Formats: sequence, structure tokens, C-alpha cells
Amino acid sequence: MACRFPLVIAAVSSAAYALWPIPVDLSTGNQALKLATNFEIDTSAISNASQDLLDAADRTKGFLQNDKLEILVVDRGASNAERLQNAPTISSLVLSFGTGHSGQIRSISEEATDDIDNRVEGYSLTVPENGSKATLTANSSLGLFRGLTTFSQLWYNLNDITYTIEAPISITDSPAYDPRISFPVKDILRTLDAMSWVHMTTFHWHAVDSQSFPLEIPEFPDLSAKGAYGSSMIYSTADVQNIVTYAAARGIDVLPEIDTPGHTTSIAQAFPEHVACALATPWANYANEPPAGQLRLASANTTEFTASLFSSASSLFPGKYFSSGGDEVNDECYAIDGPTQAELKASGKTLEQALDTFIQANHAALKSNGKTPVVWEEMVLNFNLTLSNDTIVMVWISSADAAAVADKGFRLVHAPSDYMYLDCGAGEWIGDTPNAVSWCDPFKSWQHTYTFDPTANLTDAQAKLVLGGEQLLWTEQSGPSNLDSIVWPRAASSAELFWSGPGRNISTALPRLHDIAFRMAQRGIGVIPLQPQWCALRPGVCDLTA
Ligand SMILES: *[C@@H]1O[C@H](CO)[C@@H](O)[C@H](O)[C@H]1NC(C)=O
Ligand SMILES: *[C@@H]1O[C@H](CO)[C@@H](O)[C@H](O)[C@H]1NC(C)=O
Ligand SMILES: *[C@@H]1O[C@H](CO)[C@@H](O)[C@H](O)[C@H]1NC(C)=O
Ligand SMILES: *[C@@H]1O[C@H](CO)[C@@H](O)[C@H](O)[C@H]1NC(C)=O
Ligand SMILES: *[C@@H]1O[C@H](CO)[C@@H](O)[C@H](O)[C@H]1NC(C)=O
Ligand SMILES: *[C@@H]1O[C@H](CO)[C@@H](O)[C@H](O)[C@H]1NC(C)=O
Ligand SMILES: *[C@@H]1O[C@H](CO)[C@@H](O)[C@H](O)[C@H]1NC(C)=O
Ligand SMILES: *[C@@H]1O[C@H](CO)[C@@H](O)[C@H](O)[C@H]1NC(C)=O
Repeated sequence: MACRFPLVIAAVSSAAYALWPIPVDLSTGNQALKLATNFEIDTSAISNASQDLLDAADRTKGFLQNDKLEILVVDRGASNAERLQNAPTISSLVLSFGTGHSGQIRSISEEATDDIDNRVEGYSLTVPENGSKATLTANSSLGLFRGLTTFSQLWYNLNDITYTIEAPISITDSPAYDPRISFPVKDILRTLDAMSWVHMTTFHWHAVDSQSFPLEIPEFPDLSAKGAYGSSMIYSTADVQNIVTYAAARGIDVLPEIDTPGHTTSIAQAFPEHVACALATPWANYANEPPAGQLRLASANTTEFTASLFSSASSLFPGKYFSSGGDEVNDECYAIDGPTQAELKASGKTLEQALDTFIQANHAALKSNGKTPVVWEEMVLNFNLTLSNDTIVMVWISSADAAAVADKGFRLVHAPSDYMYLDCGAGEWIGDTPNAVSWCDPFKSWQHTYTFDPTANLTDAQAKLVLGGEQLLWTEQSGPSNLDSIVWPRAASSAELFWSGPGRNISTALPRLHDIAFRMAQRGIGVIPLQPQWCALRPGVCDLTA
């Protein structure tokens, strides 16, 4: 038995690092502690706790009972059996608000969809080694939710005993940035669950594009009725309600995007009068992806239509942010469009000036509906537009573009294709491409994403403009069949990068990433293995330098 002890020590050090994302402040001991079979999450200190917090507590209890994850060491924890026999049993986790709580009880859903500056997500968690109550304190319901998520990752299973061998545990945590990340509704809901397990805060939903308009917009039902692939492939307003409600209760805000003026060919199915160069060929002259078609931005009618579309769509989403898109606007498309050329001539405006008028009208519509506009980087780097200073810019083309966006004083979200794309490396989706390269090759490994530096090449003042980052999955080559495997556990990489902060050691992160991946698998997510299980049970042993 004694000779097994070093093995247990190894288990302690690897398990101590098993949380994902890693908390800012974490201390652990080496005492064994069992979870009572009737373990309770006690919310009685919170008078009038919100229903979504109570539901989150119930889900957490479910994970404690059902995860049944065996610890990732070679013997899967069998050598802990003896220690567990006499280990103290912990019977409850007590939730309470800290002294910084406003006194006004708000739900997780309300707090998760509030303005970024108003969100409070920190928590502190203690698990004593002697079996007395564990405590979770936060100044918000959202903070308590993040803490519950972390608490659920502390436990392993051996012969139906749920235990830790790291008591006492003390954690103080809060996010460094605001982390973030399409499909039958059930796939989206499953993805939202997994996102919440790694403290992701925002689901950026690029819900419509050139090929299809699946989003039902209350005042424009024809857009989806005619523009979607089919009547069974529409997100009804009830579906959207389901998604935003489900997300918010899990601490996730939904950032909707209706990409304009480019990527809008599908609008022509219902409103051909608003779309220039629809289905023009060769498409590559008029668009970055097939089929060609862009909103007639110089038309007052089209501008009014688009602004009304944003107003109507705003009512579907409770959050404070809405993206009007703005990537890949194609000049050639407008050059061959008779109505656009006639409008420009009549108004004496350049295309850029017309775009400015178009964007201002759309953003005014968003603002009058309480939304802060979000745009892709081209809107500030390729055009001289009048954008309000609260506009949030997503940098997607290259990480090297962040500095230029910050230089213009805009708040930004890192989404660069050279670090954050979950696509790439699968060949090109365009039919007759002769060789197997895609524009954003190569495939971005979790390690590559993990090395991203959010403040590289930014001054201290510019660094303050960084709101966070997102990992993007586009749907040219993904669908329900590969959703989980293309996203998980890779996307957990950016979740930790933007929650715990950058600059961490890949070698020591890997065992924890294995751990959250195995835990996700226990909870029904179709994660892919990062390495053979042999390596997952032997931290560091498969490193190139080991
Ligand atoms: C109880 O909480 C709900 C929101 O969760 C709030 O609307 C209501 O005002 C609260 N009631 C009291 C008495 O605090
Ligand atoms: C809650 O607010 C108090 C007072 O501002 C602060 O001292 C404490 O650290 C906060 N708690 C957490 C978990 O952030
Ligand atoms: C158990 O440990 C906690 C935290 O250290 C302490 O407050 C408590 O008094 C201890 N209880 C017993 C019964 O020793
Ligand atoms: C603009 O819309 C109005 C009202 O729908 C219509 O009468 C007019 O012909 C449209 N103008 C153009 C240039 O399409
Ligand atoms: C951008 O537009 C503003 C206002 O229309 C103008 O003053 C400024 O000179 C323009 N800048 C450039 C670089 O074209
Ligand atoms: C925008 O400018 C106004 C007025 O100068 C300022 O009060 C506000 O803080 C700025 N907002 C942002 C997000 O920079
Ligand atoms: C920062 O600048 C260096 C030197 O110009 C460049 O090599 C690097 O790619 C830049 N990094 C980012 C993230 O922009
Ligand atoms: C990462 O951690 C490993 C294991 O502790 C260590 O050997 C390695 O030197 C560290 N790498 C860096 C870049 O710090």
C-alpha cells in the first residue's frame, strides 16, 4: 500500500489543477472528503432567491449525483478507497450574498443580459476538510451561478462514492475578460449548457446569411417563410424565446447578428427590390462567398426597410447588444447595379457616404430599441463612417488588426481567424477547388488558441478597450453531426484564456483540459479525445519533451 502513496500525491497535484477555467485564486489541501448521498445546496440565506438560481442549484445537484467521473490517474482512483472509508462527509453547500450585494435580488437571467459594465461574476468558495458546511458567497446571482459551476467540477466518483482528495479548498474568482462563441434548437441548447460549464458569457448568433434566412422576424414573416431552406428549418419566435431564456438562466447573453449590407442574398427571396446583384455570376467577382447579393444601401427605401428589420428583430432578444454585421462589402456588386448607380447619381453621394447614411439609420434603430451596436472590423478599418463611440468592433480578419481598431478608440472583441476560428483545415467548401487548402488554414489547435495574447501590440490605454474574445464556428462545413466534436473541448481553450487571463502554461493546462473534456463526456457532450487515454491518465508523460 505504501508504495502507492506517491501515486496518490501525483493524483493530488494533477487533480488540484482540474478546474476549468482555472480560478484566479485557488488553494487546496490533501484531505479526503466525501459528499453525503443526500447532499444539499442550501439557499435559505437568500430570501426570495430567483427561480433560475434555484434551478441552477438543482442542476448542480444533478451533476454531483450523475457525473460519476473517475479521477484521471492510472488506477482511476482505486488507491483512494481506503482513505475514503474514514473520510469526513460533507452534507451541504450554503449560498449567500456578500456585503457588496446591492440588496436588490435579480435573477441570473437579468444579470447575464445586462450591460457588460454592470455584470458582477466574482464568487468565493470554501470547502472545509472536516465535513462542516461548504460556503459559496457572491455579490450577484450570476456570481453564485459561476461558483456553483466550479463547485460541480471538484468531485470524482469511486464505487458510487463522490469525493475529493484535496480538502480544504478555498477559491476566489472573477473573470479577466468577458468570454464568448448554429442547428436544431436542441443542439444549440446543448452547446449553451457546455458553454456555461466553462463560464462562457455570450452566444454570438450569426443567425442569417446569403444562403438562408432561417430567423423568423415578427413584422417580416416572409423573410424566413421564403428565405429559409425549408419550413422545418426556421427558428420561430418561440424557438428564439426558448434559446434566449435557456441561455440567460445559464449566465449567457445572446448577441444576435443580422449581417448587412453584405451576406444578404437570402433577403431577395422575399424582397427582391432591396437586393443588388442577386445571384450575379461569376459570384466571386461580386461576393466573398456564393451566392452574390447585397442590400441596396444607397436606396432610402432599402435603408428604411433595414432599419425596421433591426427594430423588429430587437424585440426578440433581451440583451443590450445587437450586431449589424458589416463584413465583406463588395464594391463591384454596386458598380453593376443600375438602381444603386441611379440613387448615387441623384444624391451626389459616394458609395462610402451612402454606406454611412445606411449604417447610421440602422444603428439609430438599434439604439432606439436599447441596443448597443456591434460591427465587424471593416466598418472602422475600410470605411470612414460616423459610428458612435460605444460601438463594439469584432476583429476577425487578423489578430494584427486589433491595434488599428483600438487606435480608433473603439472597444473590441478578439475573434481573429488566425487564432479563434474553429473552422479551417478542412479543405475549401467551394465545389471545384482543386487542392485541399482553405483560406484560414491551418486547423487551429487548442494550444494555438491558448497562446493568444489579448493585449499584444496595444498600449495600456488601448488594452482597456479589449472586452474579451470569442471562438467562432461557421456553418459551411459544420452541422449537427459534427457540432460537438468541432467545438469541444477546443473552445474551452478561449474560455479559460479570457476568464483566467492569458500567458498560462500549456503543459500544466492539458491535464485540466482532459478533465473538463471527460466531465463533459459524462454529461453527454460528444467531445473528441485530445490524446489517447493513456496520456490523459499520465499528466505530462506525452509532452514532446517528456
Ligand atoms: C423577488 O425577486 C423578484 C425577481 O427575482 C423581484 O421581481 C421581486 O421584486 C422580489 N421581491 C422582493 C420582496 O424582494
Ligand atoms: C463583494 O463585495 C464586497 C464589498 O465590495 C467585497 O469586499 C467582496 O470581495 C465581494 N465579494 C466577491 C466574492 O467578489
Ligand atoms: C471545521 O472547519 C471549519 C473551517 O476551518 C471551522 O470553522 C469549524 O469550526 C470546524 N468544525 C469542527 C467541528 O471542527
Ligand atoms: C419606395 O417605396 C415606396 C413606398 O413603398 C414606393 O411607392 C416607391 O416606388 C419606392 N421607391 C423606389 C425607388 O423603389
Ligand atoms: C472622414 O469623414 C470626416 C467627416 O465626414 C471627414 O472630416 C474626414 O476628413 C474623413 N477622413 C478621411 C480620412 O477621409
Ligand atoms: C463616448 O463619449 C462620451 C462623450 O464624450 C463619453 O461620456 C462616453 O464615456 C464615451 N463612451 C465610450 C464607451 O467610450
Ligand atoms: C504584434 O506585432 C508583431 C511585430 O510587428 C507581430 O509579429 C505580431 O504578429 C503582432 N501580434 C499581434 C497579436 O498583433
Ligand atoms: C510549463 O510547465 C512545465 C511543467 O511544470 C515546465 O516543465 C515548463 O518549463 C513550463 N513551461 C514554461 C514555458 O514555463
